[in-house]
Amino acid sequence: MNIDQPLQLLGGLSPATFMKRHWQKKPLVIRQAIPGLRAPLDRAELFDLAAQDDVQSRLVIQTPAVTDQPWRLKQGPFGRKALPALKQPGWTLLVQSVDLFDARVRALRDQFRFVPDARLDDVMVSYASDGGGVGPHFDSYDVFLLQAHGQRRWRIGRQKNLDLQPGMPLKILANFEPEQEFVLEAGDMLYLPPRYAHDGVALGECMTYSIGFRAPSAGELAQEILQRLAEQACDEVGDALYRDPNQSAQAQCAQIPADLARFAQEALEKALHDSLATQRALGEYLSEPKPQVWFDSAQESFDPSQGVCLDRRTQMLYDSNHIFINGESFRASGRDATLMRLLADQHHLCAGDVKRLSAGALELLAQWVDDGWLQADLGEGSG
Ligand code: SIN
Ligand code: CO
Repeated sequence: MNIDQPLQLLGGLSPATFMKRHWQKKPLVIRQAIPGLRAPLDRAELFDLAAQDDVQSRLVIQTPAVTDQPWRLKQGPFGRKALPALKQPGWTLLVQSVDLFDARVRALRDQFRFVPDARLDDVMVSYASDGGGVGPHFDSYDVFLLQAHGQRRWRIGRQKNLDLQPGMPLKILANFEPEQEFVLEAGDMLYLPPRYAHDGVALGECMTYSIGFRAPSAGELAQEILQRLAEQACDEVGDALYRDPNQSAQAQCAQIPADLARFAQEALEKALHDSLATQRALGEYLSEPKPQVWFDSAQESFDPSQGVCLDRRTQMLYDSNHIFINGESFRASGRDATLMRLLADQHHLCAGDVKRLSAGALELLAQWVDDGWLQADLGEGSG
């Protein structure tokens, strides 16, 4: 991706400028980010997805007449009959990770790859009847809110007071203070940094695509990495026993010896000192497929030498020493590393490049084909 090329998607800014000026800093409204956009999924297709067991969906219904409970939240899946009538105002259906299920939505998501893949969470698609919305709130995500159908009125603000209304089934700000207001039409887009307060209300039927970027917390990363390192700790650190030939007789029987605490600390430092192992654990965690993703072994195997592309649900990342794919890690160097990185960046590898892989790397590719992680490259770029 050429990060210096001005993009209509970013209102004429280049990805480099957008990241410098707006990313995690301030909102941006982009008129006709995707000119003439027609929603990739129509209403019926979205409702069909919301009926599937493996798709996460929620329904938010406004019930202003019920003064002590003006919001109702239900978890999917939803058969068509479980959704309110289209004519009923004030409801919203939210469908998560639509990019995993639909190639057109995945292609849309790929336009945002100027942000590292490791930061992308999913594309959520919402359908709202007239007046529908999820109330004033903030997210901990960076998000591009792309208007895909109809109109939505947004009010946004740098909210200082993040108190929430108590007793609500969803996060609703108690004292929302909007500073700006605008109506987005199909093709318009709003970028919001994390914790920026917003409230979007449908003006007539509307659909909004949220391309969301998750930031992992320090605690979450530490926990995930430590869990993975713990599995190898015994091999790393060895099983030498604590020795205390100089232990003196102790009057405070229950006190833990300081030498034993030091021994434990040293064992821990040994387990953590291997920065390659830490990198590996991080990459394995970040490339882990979402919980609802199950790969079926390939029904019909094909010869990867004709070219391959990543299955839509495959997450492939790399660092300077490893290649990561769907939670697994491989050491790679030289030409193999270059070609595998190309596959991760471009999502496909042409026949000519596949031929340049070593026998070992080709074997891996064949394994990934069998696992259903790769598809035959039909020359259309990413799958
Ligand atoms: C929506 O699409 O209805 C909600 C998106 C958001 O406010 O984050
Ligand atoms: Co939001």
